[in-house]
Amino acid sequence: MATIAPERLVRAASLAELRAAGRLVVHVDRHTLCLFADGDDVYAVDNRCPHMGFPLHRGSIADGILTCHWHHARFDLCTGGTFDQWADDLRRFPVELRGDDVLVDVSPLEDPVAHQRERLRDGLERNIPLVLAKATIALVEAGPSGIDVFRAALDFGVERRGGGWFRGLTTLACFMNLVPLVERGDRAVALYHGVADVASDSANEAPRFPLDPLPGDAPEPARIARWFRRFVEVRDAEGAERAIVSAIRAGASQTELADMLFAAAADHRYLDGGHTLDFVNKAMEALDVAGWEFAEAVLASLPAQLAGAERMEEANSWRNPVDLVALLDDAFERLPAALEASKNGAAWADRNALVQTVLGDDPTAIVESLLAALRDGATEVDVASAVSFTAATRIARFPTTNEFGDWDTALHTFTFANAVEQGMRRSPSAELVRGVFDAAMSVHLDRFLNVPATRLPRPDGNGDPDELWGELARAFDRQQQVDEAAGLAASFLGSGGEAKRLVAALGSALLRENRNFHTIQCVEAAARQYWVVGIGAGASEGAEKFGHELINRANFGLTVRVWGPHALSIGYVLSTRDARVPAGDDRHQSVETVTLSYNFLGHTRFGAVEWRPAEMPAR
Ligand code: FES
Repeated sequence: MATIAPERLVRAASLAELRAAGRLVVHVDRHTLCLFADGDDVYAVDNRCPHMGFPLHRGSIADGILTCHWHHARFDLCTGGTFDQWADDLRRFPVELRGDDVLVDVSPLEDPVAHQRERLRDGLERNIPLVLAKATIALVEAGPSGIDVFRAALDFGVERRGGGWFRGLTTLACFMNLVPLVERGDRAVALYHGVADVASDSANEAPRFPLDPLPGDAPEPARIARWFRRFVEVRDAEGAERAIVSAIRAGASQTELADMLFAAAADHRYLDGGHTLDFVNKAMEALDVAGWEFAEAVLASLPAQLAGAERMEEANSWRNPVDLVALLDDAFERLPAALEASKNGAAWADRNALVQTVLGDDPTAIVESLLAALRDGATEVDVASAVSFTAATRIARFPTTNEFGDWDTALHTFTFANAVEQGMRRSPSAELVRGVFDAAMSVHLDRFLNVPATRLPRPDGNGDPDELWGELARAFDRQQQVDEAAGLAASFLGSGGEAKRLVAALGSALLRENRNFHTIQCVEAAARQYWVVGIGAGASEGAEKFGHELINRANFGLTVRVWGPHALSIGYVLSTRDARVPAGDDRHQSVETVTLSYNFLGHTRFGAVEWRPAEMPAR
């Protein structure tokens, strides 16, 4: 038996007294211990049951096992180990007997954080909410960023859920994005909800057995990307998984991986009501937080969802009474030319007109207005952002007379539109632009959810933010206060109330209710839209702290007449993007485009500047 260093021992009781009583509660060094005399042996344990704190001196002992009388958790008295994983190991204190003295060692635990990491894993494996809550609180206290908890749950979810990335991991990523935005005291609760959803989503699921990459030297990423899309097209999840794992091992960049996944997610219309593309986006946001060294495990969890998703080509609502799929197919044929024209460097300023058209009744006009916006110089991000705004507007104008389940329809469109936009900001591509058109069609299909349309609040800006704040908090406490709460929120902001405070309050309101997946997605997407996308630095007090995005574009050109009306032009466009996302990395990107074009200058008053002296003969 290992001996205890004498300086660590503290006298706890008289041995004779303990043997006479059988058990004693003692206070040593701010610990409340229960001493047990069981036969010739003496034990010292924490008197609080590690499950929910019941006093263990009221428990019973049989054959060396201590049983708590509240929920009957059982503990080996000798080691403190429990036989019931929903409890926890009982803290035992080493004992030494010297004469009549019972001496105990109450030195601090060597690594309580490591113990809580193990408990987090136990809770995830066995789907035990209380264990997850306790471990999450302890780990967030030790590391307030919550990254440790997030990584552990992410690792578990992608490894253990045979069906791949789904609801639980999306909830986790949403809450991790919200952690920097909620009150400090809500952070552990936010992470707990994410972790608990991963556990419940993975419970009773077969584990996922990861695939190795292709042997030897993998082909270049562009070829693997083609394979990947082909495998998803024929619903071959395993083929697609091996392709993406091989691409990662072959050194594909983050942009190449994003393009590959987003292209496959947009090859068919509005997969699984928008969830599939949102899952792809959330997986990448999760990697931004956890680190891209987890890419192989995380991204390999996506093909099952991509290959198995319902395609809206199969849905009646996308085929009748208007064949939206045919309309989009026609638009996609004209998309490359529109995207080419969008590089002309012109400043596009018709966002409002585009928004109004997308919110209108005519799907053909919507498609044409998107193409026209691109031709007129709108970037891929510009059109994606405008469509996200229309999707949010559908929610703002949603009347409460609708069926309750209809909320989900409007929320799906908004979270999908937001995911497309976030993907576009990560890596714009012609393939992903199709997602913008899908989102616009979904906004169109949702138009009956705005009949009659709720009037948008029009705050006068003269309120007292603190008073409005109190009213808003009271509205959150009552049911059926949707329009009232919206009006108060608008008045609060309009009267100079801090948006940061409002977002934190929405987070708190979300966390105190039962977990509702679609509401979580919606609040997270709205927060991201507010802080990062639509507004950016300087949007409101404190916005800079939470994230920003600044896109600049410079355009230079020179045209030289070569002979007669024939001229050559050289153009140069420089686009830069400087973005910071809450809980994510800084991103600085720049793209340079050089174009060489032929121009026919024609005559004066027809597109040409007459530079020759008047006395020279006109051409
Ligand atoms: S408090 Fe001891 S088993 Fe629940």
